[in-house]
Amino acid sequence: MDTPRVPRHVAIIMDGNGRWARRRHLPRTAGHKVGVRSVRAVVEESIRQGVEVLTLFAFSSENWRRPPSEVKMLMDLFLGALRSEVRRLHDNGVRLQVLGDRRAFPPRLQESIREAEDKTRANQRLRLQVAANYGGRWDILQAARRLAEEAVAGRLDPAALDEATFAGYLATADSPDLFIRTGGEQRLSNFLLWQSAYSELYFSEHMWPDFNAAAYVEALAEFGRRQRRFGLTGEQLDPAPSAATP
Ligand code: FPP
Repeated sequence: MDTPRVPRHVAIIMDGNGRWARRRHLPRTAGHKVGVRSVRAVVEESIRQGVEVLTLFAFSSENWRRPPSEVKMLMDLFLGALRSEVRRLHDNGVRLQVLGDRRAFPPRLQESIREAEDKTRANQRLRLQVAANYGGRWDILQAARRLAEEAVAGRLDPAALDEATFAGYLATADSPDLFIRTGGEQRLSNFLLWQSAYSELYFSEHMWPDFNAAAYVEALAEFGRRQRRFGLTGEQLDPAPSAATP
């Protein structure tokens, strides 16, 4: 089974903003601001490379525990980025969708998210999914809760529940082919737990503000070198080359 050269769906944990800033004796929030530049670079490169879905982890369910000033700054940054970037995204054929429990966000931010999603709904060049107030366990739990409600209402037979039906209740049913984490740590941090079951993992030493188009292209190239087995053996996927040649 040939791995397509370019992953159809890339998910990224954008980690390292705080450390990038601290190393420069700047407040952590400066790292988040510069991080927007990397978001732009990765979105543009995804379009150039033909990636169809890009999912970015912008704010986890656990990030509310950060200092209130940093949380407020991040909310303001998301609002500002939505207002300044949506037109450009729209002109480039990008559909924006926010994954996560948005009810906890300030009303103005919720409104801007709704407007951006409505404006870009028909775009098909790239689907940009921004995970905000998202957690993998939250996602699985909210899906289970809604499925249980369907079952109690008699609209769903629990015995007929399969993976595809379950996935349809998640914030996104779409599984990443390539899962990137920047910032040097090697963990999933509760991101897309169900969806990443067969993702290729790629850990970059770059802090997110330093993760530019070249670093992204290197991650995509590494994906192209991987053999994805989905539970099969290497031999099943690629029978001995000597047997194929006379
Ligand atoms: C993790 O770095 C980063 C975040 C929690 C925020 C990510 C937000 C952006 C890149 C801003 C722009 C995003 C969009 C979609 C407009 P960290 O603070 O945990 O870094 P550290 O591990 O070095 O402390």
